[in-house]
Amino acid sequence: MTALLSTRGLSLAFGGVVAADAIDFDLAPGERLAVVGQNGAGKTTFINICTGYLKADAGQVFFAGHDVTGQSPRAITRLGVGRSFQLPQVFGEHTVRECLLLASSSVQRRQGLWRPLASAVDAHEVDATLELLQLQDRANDLAGALPEGQRKLLDVAMALVLRPQLMIMDEPTSGVSTDEKHGLMAVLMKALDERQVTSIFVEHDIDIVRRYATRLAAWIAGKIAADGAPEEVLRDPLVIKNVIGE
Ligand SMILES: Nc1ncnc2c1ncn2[C@@H]1O[C@H](COP(=O)(O)OP(=O)(O)OP(=O)(O)O)[C@@H](O)[C@H]1O
Ligand SMILES: [Mg+2]
Repeated sequence: MTALLSTRGLSLAFGGVVAADAIDFDLAPGERLAVVGQNGAGKTTFINICTGYLKADAGQVFFAGHDVTGQSPRAITRLGVGRSFQLPQVFGEHTVRECLLLASSSVQRRQGLWRPLASAVDAHEVDATLELLQLQDRANDLAGALPEGQRKLLDVAMALVLRPQLMIMDEPTSGVSTDEKHGLMAVLMKALDERQVTSIFVEHDIDIVRRYATRLAAWIAGKIAADGAPEEVLRDPLVIKNVIGE
């Protein structure tokens, strides 16, 4: 099957730190990939390069048959890649509904090029997406007043309302209590299933990985050190030593 997302030789160094080290990667449609790795392993860097927020020193990124290497976040979003952020990037001073209406402009705002677009998202689509992520009762509340779990859901909603084929989520459960994590993931994964969206999510909680991933990739020092069936990767001695800890 043709890959939905691929990278070849993706490399990026920050001074002496190699954050991406010649990464070759392929994701097939329908996969639900969890990404694990210690702090600083390069997980966010990989996502930022794939979604256009960082430019690689070398290598290429392909999405759905397009070479998207070096393209802007907006162009990559338009092709069908959604993403959410380690720290949710919602518009705190706007209501939840307005955040979704403004979603197509949000990519520019994150780049400091805020310019609300005339072509706002369709109101029906906004309502459907709010319901999908169980945020309908919060529609008129200020995004900044939401508890962290719902802010995380809103960040994903702002990407899903644009109907991506692929959703990349950077630590969707970080900042949320252990008790709430499973409920949050259940809502997210059901939403992605219903819309048939392929997904990548970065996660530190191994229980969550076991429960929701169909595939697991472990990052160590800018490289994918192990990649495959979650149970297999979790048995890999290198992963146990460097990622899970004993
Ligand atoms: N903009 C930047 N400038 C300089 N160094 C950076 C930058 N972004 C990331 N780095 C460095 O690159 C390495 C990889 O960082 P990255 O944020 O990708 O890690 P991560 O795996 O997402 O970690 P975490 O689990 O803490 O989110 C780290 O050493 C980090 O300090
Ligand atoms: Mg990170």
